[in-house]
Amino acid sequence: MAEEAILGYLESKEEISDSGQFAAERGLDHNEVVNVIKSLHGFRYVVAQDIKREMWMLTDEGRAYTATGSPEVQLFLAIPPEGIPKEELQKKLDPSVFKIGSAQAAKRKWVDMGKQLVTRRIQHVEDEVKNLLLQIQDGQAINQDEIKALKARKLIVAQTWKGYLVKKGPNYAPKRKKVATDLTRENLQRGDWKELEFKEYNFSAKGLPIESGHLHPLLKARTDFHCIFLKVRHQLKGIFRQMGFEEMPTNNYVESSFWNFDALFQPQQHPARDSHDTFFLQVPSTTNELPEDYVERVKQIHESGGYQSRGYGYDWKREEADKNLLRTHTTAVSSRMLYALAQKPFVPKKYYSIDRVFRNEAVDRTHLAEFHQIEGLVCDRGLALGDLLGVLKEFFSRLGMSKLRFKPAYNPYTEPSMEIFSYHEGLGKWVEIGNSGMFRPEMLLPMGLPEDVRVIAWGLSLERPTMILYGIDNIRDLFGHKVDLGLIKRNPVCRLGL
Ligand code: PHE
Repeated sequence: MAEEAILGYLESKEEISDSGQFAAERGLDHNEVVNVIKSLHGFRYVVAQDIKREMWMLTDEGRAYTATGSPEVQLFLAIPPEGIPKEELQKKLDPSVFKIGSAQAAKRKWVDMGKQLVTRRIQHVEDEVKNLLLQIQDGQAINQDEIKALKARKLIVAQTWKGYLVKKGPNYAPKRKKVATDLTRENLQRGDWKELEFKEYNFSAKGLPIESGHLHPLLKARTDFHCIFLKVRHQLKGIFRQMGFEEMPTNNYVESSFWNFDALFQPQQHPARDSHDTFFLQVPSTTNELPEDYVERVKQIHESGGYQSRGYGYDWKREEADKNLLRTHTTAVSSRMLYALAQKPFVPKKYYSIDRVFRNEAVDRTHLAEFHQIEGLVCDRGLALGDLLGVLKEFFSRLGMSKLRFKPAYNPYTEPSMEIFSYHEGLGKWVEIGNSGMFRPEMLLPMGLPEDVRVIAWGLSLERPTMILYGIDNIRDLFGHKVDLGLIKRNPVCRLGL
């Protein structure tokens, strides 16, 4: 309806100067006319320009009076020629009509509001207020004083009216053409495709993004390709394998304090063994399988030493060693592996692991309560610090970090110990990337390893190189419940500097 009217009108006329007037003259709803104009404008059948006008609109109260008459007139008409007692009049009218009506009628001197009787002072009144409201409703102009009075009585409010000035557009036609978007089987059968006008192809439209599955990083993927960590992990595994390392089994997140700490010659009062740093298990709270003779040797070395060590000289408690915890480092796995190695005739080994560890940390941009550790160790007769330096150089240069620096450090289980720093070209500074050392004789000899066997070892978090490689500054974007899924979907397979 509206569309035909608009296109039809423009066929012979220059323009529709005011969509509001156009709609009113034809008894059309202006909202509908506006929608049609917008659509025709979109397809360039017409060109529409905004027009805005400050308009007066009736409030609900104002609209009500166009039907019932103003309260003052309602009141006037309720008064019979002989007058009426005030109370009776009040009963006849709505409370608000009585209240407003009596005030207005008295002001206009239409009535006498006597103490007893209300009487008319004139015989006939015109409902000016109602007439003015009807004029406003019709969009007719009225004078400023009257506007002011009606506004003061809250019968009208100002509103911006929006409409359009409409002219023919570049695609103008008296009737909208239906363009076909698809060539159907029916079109072919009927042969009407010959007459059809087809919508042009939009070759620059973007296709729908292809939805496919993406594993959440928290899910342990069967293949190693699905999350960033697993991708970096895959690369790291490659490096270790090329260097002749075997993977250690790391599938036990729950470990006993014994393997996590005691076997590593970490004293029982060490702050890391506090529940502020370590998650202890409530159920089952203790382990029931430890190699008893080895436990005895570990107790000895802690309490009174041996193998030329003085030990720590404290009362070693079995209950502490039995406590179950979530492993705080993968070095717990290394201690188990070295113990197992010591139970057979000695063969040199190169071991590595990459898996999850847990620490009771305050979570922030760079720390999480669970993260992944990369651990490597070489176990052979007569190894020295130079071997550790050489292996680290080789390992980290394959990771793309060839400028290394070492800083003396302390670990209960290594001597000497060294923190590893690498020069980060992007950041233009030296960053700490890992920790390393040679396992102490207090750790290795109670296990039963031959005396000339040395173990060089190092550890680092998987998150650190991953964040550096992917330029991520908030670890929570990468791991945990706030992970950025877009990042997980978009990220390419990572290549370390190989
Ligand atoms: N376990 C140490 C850590 O958690 C890393 C390390 C491993 C240090 C092996 C020395 C030797 O930081």
